[in-house]
Amino acid sequence: MINKILNFFKEYNARKDEEPRSGKLYAISALFNTPNEIMNAATEVADKGYRRFDTFTPYPVHRLDQAMGITKPLVGPIAFAGGMLGCFLTLLMIWWMSDADYPNIIGGKPFFSLPPAIPITFEGTVLLTGIATVIGMLVLLNKLPKINNPLNDTEFMKHVSSDKFGIVIGANDKQFSESEIRSLFESMGAHDIQNIYYRESNLTNKTPIFDSKFIATLIAVAGLTALISYFTLNVVLYDVVPFDWMRHQEKINSQSPSDFFQNKSGMRMPVEGTVARGFMPYEYKGMPDSSVKQLANPLPADSKILERGQDRYNVFCSPCHGYFGDGDGRLNEQFPKPPSLHNNKVINWTDGNLYHVLTNGQNVMPSYESQISRDDRWAIVHYIRALQRAKNAKEQDLPK
Ligand code: HEC
Repeated sequence: MINKILNFFKEYNARKDEEPRSGKLYAISALFNTPNEIMNAATEVADKGYRRFDTFTPYPVHRLDQAMGITKPLVGPIAFAGGMLGCFLTLLMIWWMSDADYPNIIGGKPFFSLPPAIPITFEGTVLLTGIATVIGMLVLLNKLPKINNPLNDTEFMKHVSSDKFGIVIGANDKQFSESEIRSLFESMGAHDIQNIYYRESNLTNKTPIFDSKFIATLIAVAGLTALISYFTLNVVLYDVVPFDWMRHQEKINSQSPSDFFQNKSGMRMPVEGTVARGFMPYEYKGMPDSSVKQLANPLPADSKILERGQDRYNVFCSPCHGYFGDGDGRLNEQFPKPPSLHNNKVINWTDGNLYHVLTNGQNVMPSYESQISRDDRWAIVHYIRALQRAKNAKEQDLPK
């Protein structure tokens, strides 16, 4: 069986070797025995001014490219241009999608901004750099896919891929002259100097990619792949239950019961002493007001704050304390009558002490910590100060 397959390839190769060569000259080749010889040959051929030549070695020979006079390869700039194009196109795409075509407010962020666009821009840059490099190197510079290079299936190729070092000068070189090149090769001690002619198919079939057999094979492979995929997905895997482990996982939703805990509640109380994010607890909570020493009003006493303080005072405090703090609120007779806020004790209190009473409560007066925000409580303190000053206004307080 294996012998049969090997024989098939042998015969196939033999037939290929027999493919007739045309009379058109492609290049002149020469073989050398050592790397040193090929180095010298490359240097000399480059010095003589030949440009369309190439060297072939069975393994990489260092500095051969320098000897051949090859300067910086063009693939670098091509890759750079591809990368820049990718970067620009990706940014344009993200801007177009998120700012022009379908602008969505997400968390109050700008429609387009650079930092979140950088990862995708990076990917786009890398992608186009890669594509440009491959196309630039293989297609533009190496002229691939060219599977019927005239050098293929020659004695020259067989030698340089196993034990000899070869050089080829193309017939399309500007200063090509068969006799001159032959004598040049001979003077360098080359052996096996040969003319390599184009194959018939080189001259007719320019791009083997459009070969009808090749295209037919491609179509057949594509069709076969599609058929197998269709059969696998729609017949073999049709009855397999889709994976939904993520949806049906063991977990407790908020507000739902659970047998795991003794009180049958799925939700837990926060650990004692837990502080909510961005919230500093009142440090004199439950302490006597004499402990409140250094607590100053953090808000400025401007008209905006005073108005806010008045508004909150009228909503929360006036029912008991009255609109002007006289202790004559609307809840008279239904709740213990509060003292006037204009007595000497309260007038002489610090702002911190006032704040302490509304935050902590005092005797029958409840704490307002949970109803009124911290800043609003300080605004009310400012407003009470304003009320006290208005009640005890002196002559010099009047506008002149
Ligand atoms: C439900 C009625 C009621 C409400 C509403 C109320 N208080 Fe009082 N407040 C009282 C009573 C009663 C007292 C006296 C408590 C005591 O016996 O020490 C008092 C005492 C005070 C004192 C201390 C007075 C002193 O001489 O010791 C201040 C200051 C005060 N309240 C401010 C406020 C502020 C500011 C608000 C609005 C956030 C407010 N209160 C809302 C009933 C109330």
